[in-house]
Amino acid sequence: MPRPVLVVDFGAQYAQLIARRVREVNLYSEVIPHTMDIAEVRAKNPAALVLSGGPSSVYADGAPALHEELLQLGVPVFGICYGFQAMTQALGGTVAQTGQREYGRTSMDVRGGHLHEGLGDVHQVWMSHGDAVSGAPEGFEVTATTPGAPVAAFECEGKKMAGVQYHPEVLHSPHGQAVLRRFLLDFAGLEPTWTPGNIAEQLIEQVREQVGPEGRAICGLSGGVDSAVAAALVQRAIGDRLTCVFVDHGLLRAGEREQVEQDFVSATGANLVTVHEHEAFLSKLAGVMDPEAKRKAIGAEFIRSFERAVAGVLESAPEGATVDYLVQGTLYPDVVESGGGSGTANIKSHHNVGGLPDDVEFKLVEPLRLLFKDEVRAVGRELGLPKEIVGRQPFPGPGLGIRIIGEVTEERLQTLRAADAIVREELTAAGLDDTIWQCPVVLLADVRSVGVQGDGRTYGHPVVLRPVSSEDAMTADWTRVPYDVLERISTRITNEVQEVNRVVLDVTSKPPGTIEWE
Ligand code: XMP
Repeated sequence: MPRPVLVVDFGAQYAQLIARRVREVNLYSEVIPHTMDIAEVRAKNPAALVLSGGPSSVYADGAPALHEELLQLGVPVFGICYGFQAMTQALGGTVAQTGQREYGRTSMDVRGGHLHEGLGDVHQVWMSHGDAVSGAPEGFEVTATTPGAPVAAFECEGKKMAGVQYHPEVLHSPHGQAVLRRFLLDFAGLEPTWTPGNIAEQLIEQVREQVGPEGRAICGLSGGVDSAVAAALVQRAIGDRLTCVFVDHGLLRAGEREQVEQDFVSATGANLVTVHEHEAFLSKLAGVMDPEAKRKAIGAEFIRSFERAVAGVLESAPEGATVDYLVQGTLYPDVVESGGGSGTANIKSHHNVGGLPDDVEFKLVEPLRLLFKDEVRAVGRELGLPKEIVGRQPFPGPGLGIRIIGEVTEERLQTLRAADAIVREELTAAGLDDTIWQCPVVLLADVRSVGVQGDGRTYGHPVVLRPVSSEDAMTADWTRVPYDVLERISTRITNEVQEVNRVVLDVTSKPPGTIEWE
């Protein structure tokens, strides 16, 4: 991996977002806790540091401390919000306890310097602070001010250090990314080499090293982006020594099995074993109404099916060969949220895929553990995966099982699949795929509504459209899909899907509603 830009996390909700913004400059970044031992930081051989925001006051009891040695590593440093204030104090400037808070969109006057040059004399920036820097450290030029921050930005090109009181990483600071980019490329002089082509090449090389010339691996495909890209990388690295396993639980959407069986295989040349477990899943779902009970039933059956498939692969391995590695599509946000840590954990397989025989122990291969979702997509495109797989909307593991309100039956699955396929087709045709995070289609199987079609009265079911816009699925808003698109969807569904005689639109944000109905 290239030398990282380390984002020192002072407890900001934005540290990961900052790391993403650095990656958008085509530079590799990692988030580290502010408590990390200085020797460990040195060992990472950072190319630059970005000090994140954090609690509102550097004077607060227990405020996270900045290791002053970080500023003596001889690498460029950029401070943001709390990090800006902590850096100021450490370098001999002053931070005033104003007792006042400046919060939200703020107008900032630019006075000079390089980082804000030519971006406008007055910027809009996003502020969230109490204390304010009142005196820049010696040798630093004050380059911007706001009503609540006499020193809203400073820089010293000679020392390759700078900082801003505002949050450049959020979209409410429209020039923030330009300022960060200038710092990293112009002040710090870093080479933007973190590109999809280079990332793919490095990851393939890493997998080759980890698995070695003889090692064999297995990978469960879900149909989703992460497992597909992870498998494609490992396939490039070790070829036929990878076997992919796909459990078709019968709760997939129209065309998804074909996407894996045909498109994925022809794009990658991977060995694929599909197990058709349709009936096993349906029989476990018979009579189950409660959402959590459905999830449990599907999850448990999934583990059993996967276990059977793995046992089959292990048995059919060539004489004397063992399968030692399990590929997983873990992404960087999961790694950061579970406390980081590097290297590959050597875990008992059942901690992850559950239920595998106790004597089967896999080593994990997690080629995506340093990537964000958008990078995974870019690498997938680089590897030639079809856009239907790379651009796929998030889809819950329990599949259509949690989009049928009521008992799951084969007939209901067929109805929902048909309605869902129409919705996807029309949204794509209207060019809305990038606007919409995902659009669950929900069948209210236990509700009936009266309709009229031709000369006859119908007594069918409603489906609900749930188009949402979101950045991370933690919060979401309902997407304002144009009326003419909604009209086409409604007309087609009620004409083409016999059991459905009503199409309704969910106009609830999250919170209070969740994205899925169950
Ligand atoms: P909610 O409904 O909680 O969904 O707003 C947030 C995101 O998570 C997905 N989701 C799931 N994914 N297993 C999954 O793998 C599940 O049981 C599950 N439930 C919800 C949902 O599609 C959305 O992207």
